[in-house]
Parts: sequence; structure tokens; C-alpha cells
Amino acid sequence: MNKKIVVITGSPRKGGNSDILAEAFITAAESKGHMVQRFDAGRLKIGGCHACNRCFKTEKACSFDDDFNKIAAAVQEADAVIFSTPTYWFTMSSAIKAVLDRFYSFLIGGKAQEIAGKKAAIIACCMSEDPGTMNDVKSPLMKSFAFLKWDCIGEVLVPKAGNPGDVKNTDGCERAAALADLL
Ligand SMILES: Cc1cc2nc3c(=O)[nH]c(=O)nc-3n(C[C@H](O)[C@H](O)[C@H](O)COP(=O)(O)O)c2cc1C
Repeated sequence: MNKKIVVITGSPRKGGNSDILAEAFITAAESKGHMVQRFDAGRLKIGGCHACNRCFKTEKACSFDDDFNKIAAAVQEADAVIFSTPTYWFTMSSAIKAVLDRFYSFLIGGKAQEIAGKKAAIIACCMSEDPGTMNDVKSPLMKSFAFLKWDCIGEVLVPKAGNPGDVKNTDGCERAAALADLL
């Protein structure tokens, strides 16, 4: 069955490694007939959570109405949510962290049950040769998926990717595309 997929990328660098990996996944998912909505969080206007606890008090997820609300609406409808992030200082980029923080609106807004049961996956890259550099990219996302009752279908962690395009010299794109088989 065709699924609704949300892909959230986290780099400000257009056409960089996390974009290339996301694109490999999207091409594979679309070739299987899935509908993909992509949000480039690193290039959108998405601030941090204000902890005002006014989530879903208006018709929107967040009363601070920036681009997060578009992502929130798409996530509510999605069957799967895929994050593609560069490693910044041993963790996810601040753009992805901002999105994740704003997922707080689903909890406070009473939507936790409604958004449970989705599939999720992690795509990440880093400059270091050591894949362990991405442990703390993976860990908070995995814990968040478990908390949200989302099923993690896979992780594609790609080391040795510092300069834009470096992922093309790895098996990362192939592995990102293979995630589409698990939707
Ligand atoms: C602010 C910043 C912090 C970074 N921190 C790390 C790091 O902790 N470990 C690492 O291996 N690479 C680090 N990198 C390198 C990026 O993870 C790497 O260049 C990645 O390919 C960037 O993805 P992009 O091309 O999608 O932007 C950092 C890069 C930037 C700009």
C-alpha cells in the first residue's frame, strides 16, 4: 500500500551529504509509489520551544506560528517520518533538535495517542572516520521514537563524509535507498 512519508533534513548546506542521502531515500520511496513530503529544517524558519504550553490551543500545533506548524501537520498525517541530519558536535544539528523539541506540542496538545504507531528512521553523516561519533545523534532520536511509540525501521550512519558529496564515495546512498524497502 502506498504510504505518506515525511522526510526532515537538518543541514543548512543545500546539496550537502545529508541532502544527498535523503534524496537517495526519497527517490527509492517514490519509485515504490509512496508519497513523500520533504522539509529542509536547516533552511526553514523553526525556532526552539518556548515552553508556553499553549500547544494546539489555536488551530495550529504551536502558537508561535513558524515553519514547524507545516511539519507538525504533515507528521500528523504521515505513516513514516525519516530524519536526515549532519553530525554537529557529536549530536544532531540544531535544526533537527528544534523540530524534535517542538514535538513537545504533540504531548501537551493531547495528540500522543493519535501520532503513535508511525515508522521512523535515522540517516546521519559525519566527517570523522569513527561511526561511534554518531552515537549521540542516534541515541536521542531512538529514545524519542520509543517514547512516541514509533517503530524504528533502520539507521544509516555514514562516517568519512566531511566535504559535500563525500557520501557518494560510500555505500550510504545505497543503504538510505534500502530503507524504502522497510516502509
Ligand atoms: C557546526 C559543525 C559541527 C560539526 N561537528 C562534527 C562532529 O562533531 N563530528 C564530525 O565527525 N563531523 C562534524 N562536522 C562535519 C559534518 O558532520 C559533515 O561535514 C557533514 O557531512 C555535514 O553534512 P551536510 O553536508 O549535510 O551539511 C561538523 C560540521 C559543522 C558545520
